[in-house]
Amino acid sequence: MSKSVPVITIDGPSGSGKGTIARAVARGLGFHLLDSGALYRLLALHVLQRQRAVQDYSDTELEQLAGSMPAEFRANPQGDIDILLDNQLVNDQLRSEQVGEMASQLAAMPAVRSGLLQRQRDFRQPPGLIADGRDMGTVVFPDAVLKIYLDASPEARAHRRRKQLIEKGENVSIAILLQDLRRRDQRDRDRKHAPLMPAPDAVEIDSTELDIDVVVTMVMQLARQRLPTPAR
Ligand code: DC
Repeated sequence: MSKSVPVITIDGPSGSGKGTIARAVARGLGFHLLDSGALYRLLALHVLQRQRAVQDYSDTELEQLAGSMPAEFRANPQGDIDILLDNQLVNDQLRSEQVGEMASQLAAMPAVRSGLLQRQRDFRQPPGLIADGRDMGTVVFPDAVLKIYLDASPEARAHRRRKQLIEKGENVSIAILLQDLRRRDQRDRDRKHAPLMPAPDAVEIDSTELDIDVVVTMVMQLARQRLPTPAR
């Protein structure tokens, strides 16, 4: 039954706007949303909280931890998603630099990716799913009805990140943000397992010069063309 539930994947590097676009499209279509990066971040936080060095885990332990960590996603009355680890709200903690760095290291490990695979596929529930990440169209949902690969220049992505940080009261220079972004891009693109790359059948959109609203409209139009009639 799950295979008959339509999935739209949105992959791309950080700062390409995929999270915002995935949320808007999920809302527009009334679909569920999978922010797969949050699962890698949750595992990172879980590992950091256990205060045991990553190198001290065997592959089997990491795979089991990824599959069994007590994480939960709950829609809240404001229309956002509360993310819980061990029944504690962790949305803000997940966004920290320390967690992001650990998530990026863990994401390069095949045991971690395989431990999270079924967890991600379990999000495929009626009436449909919007899945955002790096390997949604290539590995996790290769049969998606629509695959989007969203990119933007590193400079545009660094400026967007800076704007988000300023809204949160943090002031970080563009030079530092650019450096950070390039380092993570390289790690995501160069890793052996499920590297960041467009699926061969993905629609590629460069959002450098586009407003987020325009991209949302483009994706909604494509979704309406591709989705079976009852899901639109
Ligand atoms: O999108 P994000 O910054 O929240 O992702 C956190 C880390 O997880 C980032 O280093 C990329 C990695 N990731 C991944 O490898 N595969 C995914 N499907 C999603 C995220």
